[in-house]
Amino acid sequence: MNKPAPKTFHVKSFGCQMNVYDGARMAELLEAEGLSAATGADEADLVVLNTCHIREKAAEKVYSDIGRLRRDDGSSPMIAVAGCVAQAEGAEIPRRAPSVDIVVGPQAYHRLPDLVREAQKGGRGARAVDTDMPAESKFDALPARRRQGPTAFLTVQEGCDKFCTYCVVPYTRGGEVSRPWQAVVDEAKALVDAGAREITLLGQNVNAWEGEDEAGRVQGLGGLIRALDRLPGLDRIRYTTSHPNDMRDDLVNAHKDVASLMPFLHLPVQAGSDRILKAMNRSHTVESYLRQIDRVRAARPDIAISGDFIVGFPGETEEDFAATLALVARVEHAQAFSFKYSPRPGTPAATMGDQVAAEVMDDRLQRLQALLNKQQHDFNQAKLGIRTQVLIERDGKKSGQRIGKSPWLQSVIVEDGPAIGSLVDVDIIAAGPNSLTGAIAS
Ligand code: 5AD
Ligand code: SF4
Repeated sequence: MNKPAPKTFHVKSFGCQMNVYDGARMAELLEAEGLSAATGADEADLVVLNTCHIREKAAEKVYSDIGRLRRDDGSSPMIAVAGCVAQAEGAEIPRRAPSVDIVVGPQAYHRLPDLVREAQKGGRGARAVDTDMPAESKFDALPARRRQGPTAFLTVQEGCDKFCTYCVVPYTRGGEVSRPWQAVVDEAKALVDAGAREITLLGQNVNAWEGEDEAGRVQGLGGLIRALDRLPGLDRIRYTTSHPNDMRDDLVNAHKDVASLMPFLHLPVQAGSDRILKAMNRSHTVESYLRQIDRVRAARPDIAISGDFIVGFPGETEEDFAATLALVARVEHAQAFSFKYSPRPGTPAATMGDQVAAEVMDDRLQRLQALLNKQQHDFNQAKLGIRTQVLIERDGKKSGQRIGKSPWLQSVIVEDGPAIGSLVDVDIIAAGPNSLTGAIAS
């Protein structure tokens, strides 16, 4: 028995910003196929769960989310599991969760419409699984960009060859691939035409991006940023996530020369002990990391530094952890993400001896976060009284209130109702741990 063709869809993305980008592109693809966006998962004929595999908690969440899609009458929508759990677990997913109709990996989602048709054919129990990493690029097969708010993501680089011993990314996203120069410039133009004023260039190792410009010259991310800076209507450029070993001169110098490149750098270090960095296969040391921070600060003294940290990596002693706290104290972060180590199937660290006890990880995470939160608060406080530009992104909770971002990626609440999409000068009149308050400059 055939299933009816879905008319409406809902895409729910978890995890990193690249998943948010992929989710937006899947939505555009389904719209191009004639489906329309439902108001939520409960109203949709097709629900796409765009999943994250980076830590166990995120990966396990998929199964409870699938269960929650069952409706009161016992029926379920057509369910597609996309993203990194789809890539890692493949056909295992419908075995564990029989209501799943489609499994599609992050490099194959341009084939989603075909998979939907396949899933329709055989009635209940028919499954379409596609976790290929095909030679053809999904980007070439996707429809043009549409409908944008003031800020947009643009994937320029995908995958990772670095194989940190804790990380699933090289397995779920594949090896490092840079999108061609022209493809990126064209997509940026389309995003600006569709209303974007700020673009965040995305990649697992975005600063490893490399390509040839129109003249056939090899360029790095810095060169690409300079080209995008020349696009009329594009006011702000950001990029994430970077690796400490790929901070080339052209990128560091762009922070000095390119006004539209925002003063923010997410440069994860993960840990502050060379012994642990070695066990993580990070291929940099504390000192070489600090050298990179010094270089970017020399180019752009006000740059906001952000990072990622893992506590409780196998073998981490109290002394190693103290070294992480010492490194954080030296760098002074504007914000950061910190996580308890989570053993991931198939990664080398998962089978290392000396796994750290859960209570020890809890304690270390708390101490690290207390320090990082204080640094974030201090960074925010230091902006009190300055005049700066805010790109207004959305409505706030109260009527007339809007929320936007400072150049340093801080959320700024503005009471006097500037239009969404406007870039306004504001005076910072209050600074809390998580946001600033601004008044339009007169
Ligand atoms: N356990 C905990 N955190 C992890 N990350 C990646 N893999 C793991 C893991 N197995 C963190 C790293 C990375 C961020 C995206 O997630 O800090 O930079
Ligand atoms: Fe994972 Fe390391 Fe690659 Fe980052 S650099 S995606 S942490 S393997």
